[in-house]
Amino acid sequence: MIEKLWGGRFTAPTNEFVEAFTASVEFDKRLYPYDIMGSIAHAKMLTQVGVLTLEECEQIIAGLNQIQQEIERGQFEWSVNLEDVHMNIESRLTQKIGSVGKKLHTGRSRNDQVATDVRLYLRHEIDFIQTELKRLIFALIALAEKEASTIMPGFTHLQSAQPVTFGHHLLAWTEMLLRDQARLKDCRHRVNTLPLGAAALAGTSFPIDREYTAKLLDFEQVAQNSMDAVSDRDFVIEFTACAAMMMMHLSRFSEELVLWSSAQFNFIELSDAFCTGSSIMPQKKNPDVPELVRGKTGRVYGNLTSLLTLMKSQPLAYNKDNQEDKEPLFDTVDTLKGSLHVYAEMIPAIQVKQAQLKSAAKQGFTTATDLADYLVKKGIPFRDAHEIVGTAVKHCIDQQCDLDALSLETFQSFSTVIQADVYQVLTLEGSIAARNHLGGTSVQQVQAAIKKLQASQL
Ligand code: ARG
Repeated sequence: MIEKLWGGRFTAPTNEFVEAFTASVEFDKRLYPYDIMGSIAHAKMLTQVGVLTLEECEQIIAGLNQIQQEIERGQFEWSVNLEDVHMNIESRLTQKIGSVGKKLHTGRSRNDQVATDVRLYLRHEIDFIQTELKRLIFALIALAEKEASTIMPGFTHLQSAQPVTFGHHLLAWTEMLLRDQARLKDCRHRVNTLPLGAAALAGTSFPIDREYTAKLLDFEQVAQNSMDAVSDRDFVIEFTACAAMMMMHLSRFSEELVLWSSAQFNFIELSDAFCTGSSIMPQKKNPDVPELVRGKTGRVYGNLTSLLTLMKSQPLAYNKDNQEDKEPLFDTVDTLKGSLHVYAEMIPAIQVKQAQLKSAAKQGFTTATDLADYLVKKGIPFRDAHEIVGTAVKHCIDQQCDLDALSLETFQSFSTVIQADVYQVLTLEGSIAARNHLGGTSVQQVQAAIKKLQASQL
């Protein structure tokens, strides 16, 4: 039986079930590199202010480095008796270097220690997520460049609305991710705050130098109130909210990819590498990756709700409840990283079916607005123009033909201002080229937007 680090005031051993129930080591052991990093900085700071001798500090650091190696080689024995990652490492340190190891916890508590570990972990993961996000953004821009003049139907209410380019559609996705990038960058500033030094909740009687610890660990600022420092989990919630938004965006892309790769839309072909077959229907090629990402969005929303509810009504300062922040956070990080990664791989392998996209863009009278604009330019008020085009469209539906199949004579029966130049206006190319302003779908604008993005420091 391993001795508890806090066993002094207890006479009876912990109930066995309670021991397992309260332990977190099974999931918080992934924090070990940050726990060790934080402990090394703490030891250095204690030495700097004269609480530890240089020799003691060196022994502690050497011991911690060896423990890190043991963990990485799979030689470390994690024990549920020792509850969490912090006490597992501290206990092993004392086992290795003797009673000097027991000095490491001077002026610190697991309350400020765990908050520090989680912040270091999350800061590292945010940087990795930003790299994956950037890869995905570049993949979208590259595909947008390739398909800058590919015509497709644009939808509202999932009904054919107006022709757009495939490049323009992909740049709309890109905008969503650029906002995600900015949100995450902003979130990182608040994550990057040092709680260490708050100790259990009230601070410590040792002459600590928190600014020094912050410098050693690359924190941008020191938490200003010890009670807030140990109890604050806003940064976990905020990150998860950013992640939920990103997953929401990916779920929207997913929905479109699923629709587009169906036989009915037939706009794109996903690479075989990202699809699977059916065990019963030999013809099937299922878009599993977008479907799964769409589905996984749900668990991240769930994690956000869990975390908000976890913190609701919690009295100051640290409460054991807070141990429950880790699994939803870790799951969010893993889910988001996986989803971004698979998307960054999948996007470049999309085959765009240009001919089908163009013929789909022709259906549904997508240039009707252009005809109305044409009439307005000939002096007809927009509301009247709208009415005239509506009548023409109704006529085409009855005759089962497109607007550009009408003779000039028929057009003139709807409005005498219509001339032969109307046919140019009714083409898909003409409709797209006409929307030539900042943010519009013209090929020129899409290419300019791509250039601007490529030149920017993403
Ligand atoms: N495993 C704990 C957590 O994750 C560490 C802090 C525990 N502190 C305490 N006083 N019980 O929150």
